[in-house]
Amino acid sequence: MSFDVASLRRQFPILARPVNGKALHYLDNGASAQTPLAVLDAVRTYETTARANVLRGVHALAEAATESYETARADVARFLGVAADEVIFTGGCTAAINLVAQSYGSLLKPGDEIVLSVLEHHSNIVPWYQLAQRAGLKLRPLPVTDDGRIDVSALSSIVNARTRLISVAHVSNVTGAVADVAAIVSAARAVGAKVMLDGAQRAPHGPIDLPALGVDFYAFAGHKAYAPNGIGALWGRPELLAAMPPFMGGGSMIGSVSFEAITWAPPPRRFEAGTPPIGPAIGLGAACRWMMELDWTAVGSHEMGLTQRLMDGLAAVKSARLVGPAGLQGRLPVVSFVLDNVHPHDTAQILDSYGVAVRAGHHCAQPLMDRFDIAGTTRACIAPYNDNTDVDALLDGVREAVRRFA
Ligand SMILES: Cc1ncc(COP(=O)(O)O)c(C=O)c1O
Repeated sequence: MSFDVASLRRQFPILARPVNGKALHYLDNGASAQTPLAVLDAVRTYETTARANVLRGVHALAEAATESYETARADVARFLGVAADEVIFTGGCTAAINLVAQSYGSLLKPGDEIVLSVLEHHSNIVPWYQLAQRAGLKLRPLPVTDDGRIDVSALSSIVNARTRLISVAHVSNVTGAVADVAAIVSAARAVGAKVMLDGAQRAPHGPIDLPALGVDFYAFAGHKAYAPNGIGALWGRPELLAAMPPFMGGGSMIGSVSFEAITWAPPPRRFEAGTPPIGPAIGLGAACRWMMELDWTAVGSHEMGLTQRLMDGLAAVKSARLVGPAGLQGRLPVVSFVLDNVHPHDTAQILDSYGVAVRAGHHCAQPLMDRFDIAGTTRACIAPYNDNTDVDALLDGVREAVRRFA
């Protein structure tokens, strides 16, 4: 397998559209990535040849829809290295984390503790805060190092016999740091706690070997991983899922219903009440297949080469400061920076005028902003279809922002 960025870009027609009279340089992939034709085609094929509801119909279209939906589940499972019936389709990463917080969380007792980290996205803080308020639990945040990593040296003082779950970002959506999962799993196992990873920023960078990671729950979002909006996936260890009560009630998730007693379907059905987002799920399956067909050794070095080019360019701008690891070790291509005396929104606006799409603000990570005593950052996230021109246009815009504002 080989990797050719020019031909890969042709699979993303949106990249050819101009923005503000300039070529588009799409670097807001950490918010939402673009979708390749293979994914759009899979959704279109479902909508034009097999559109029907899944699971209950006995007619030909319903059977075809069900088969495509379950094939998509199997493709997501292959992407994660797990069995298909351990994968639950959700509305997104946030929905997946809420599912665990509501369902697994309902099994926890007052005084139990949940360990998070200071760099979490609000999606991996708020559901646990709500649960803690409801159920009398305690949240224990792990600190973050000066270079934006979860400080695993604090595990020994924070994880204890009351810890039931450690839930952290596999990759930070601000600093790009990859969590030391082995250290986290080992600290959890020592006290019999479970581990959940928020994989929203990891999934867009290739297949994941969940058995090797040894965690208990894994969540990610489709729209950041080249799939449509409104879909995500949750993986859970089968024995945990089997012991968990449903989170939402409705059709499809039951064994039998009477006014006296209701029984639940086994997972994954138990957690997919109502008509699921069928087209988006089929799109997510296609996105996972698309990612599995790429040569990630080549794509990974392409992405990290661009990351290095970006970091080198920023290092040459006197007023620029990286928020995150300085090198490529233990990080993915999520690059946040601040410019002295330039508000990130001003930076992003100048970049927009250069055709460069980035994200500016607190990135739904306010505790991390507090940790660094900043209001926000400007963030560029590199995807396989980015190239040198994207990085260079961003650096041109940054220099212009410094000239104008600093
Ligand atoms: C690390 C992380 N977790 C969770 C989420 C939430 O994902 P979604 O909005 O798709 O549910 C995001 C989105 O930015 C994220 O970056």
